[in-house]
Amino acid sequence: MRLANEVFIVTGAQGGMGKETVNRFLEEGAFVAAIDLNVDGIEESDRLLPIAADLTKEDDVEKVFLMAIEKFKRIDGLINIAGIAQSATPIEEVSLADWEKIMCVNANAPFLTCRAAVPYMKKQGTGVIVNIASISMVRPRPGLNAYIASKGATVSLSQALAIELAEYGIRVNVVNPGPADTNMLGQFTSKGTDVEGMKETTFKKSVPMGRLINPNDIANSLVYLCSKEAAIVTGAIFNVDGGRGI
Ligand SMILES: NC(=O)c1ccc[n+]([C@@H]2O[C@H](COP(=O)([O-])OP(=O)(O)OC[C@H]3O[C@@H](n4cnc5c(N)ncnc54)[C@H](O)[C@@H]3O)[C@@H](O)[C@H]2O)c1
Repeated sequence: MRLANEVFIVTGAQGGMGKETVNRFLEEGAFVAAIDLNVDGIEESDRLLPIAADLTKEDDVEKVFLMAIEKFKRIDGLINIAGIAQSATPIEEVSLADWEKIMCVNANAPFLTCRAAVPYMKKQGTGVIVNIASISMVRPRPGLNAYIASKGATVSLSQALAIELAEYGIRVNVVNPGPADTNMLGQFTSKGTDVEGMKETTFKKSVPMGRLINPNDIANSLVYLCSKEAAIVTGAIFNVDGGRGI
């Protein structure tokens, strides 16, 4: 049990990576508040608290932390997995509304959740935050302009917080997934693309190790970064990508 009795807030809990992460963290002995826009089908237990929230809304984020504290009494970690994709679009066709929506979910929400988590962690003198960005932020694909910018913001925020919070015993790291086998992957293609075909060709071929990343690969990296084994790891950008970023 590498996370025994520690309390984590995991966002994007209904998604491919989020679901797997919630399960892995429970297996490792953690208590988990599982957050998503809807939490239908996630059953509450002594160790698991599902909370429906739109993380782009300040009031919803506040509610998440109040409910988690009420049930579990402390917050040891925050894992920001929630995010939205961008369909590959030439920059001249990206509307301001599209840009703002992507920035709002992928950059504003991690800002709001980090801001809410830090006071609890400072009081405890310990804590860990992991924000999920994307390997496309290291090696961009054409047409993912707003998405990549939003993930760049998340990486910069994470590094800014890593230095700001080190003296309080709070670690902040980033995981950059490579192309992962979840619903989101198909949403990165341009409109009308054969998604399954593109998974087999473009996406798999872009990974030197020759396969898509599984949600479990991401969950395992998160267990490590949140465990005592990573006690001195902060400000790291951890590529879990089969070499896609090289
Ligand atoms: N799948 C990939 O190939 C890939 C690659 C690199 C990075 N990522 C990143 O990994 C993370 C997880 O992706 P995934 O593949 O599991 O995607 P997914 O679409 O399966 O899951 C994302 C989840 O985030 C939730 N969400 C979206 N907006 C929200 C909001 N405002 N409030 C609360 N929840 C919200 C969705 O409801 C969904 O359940 C994302 O941040 C994504 O950008 C994915």
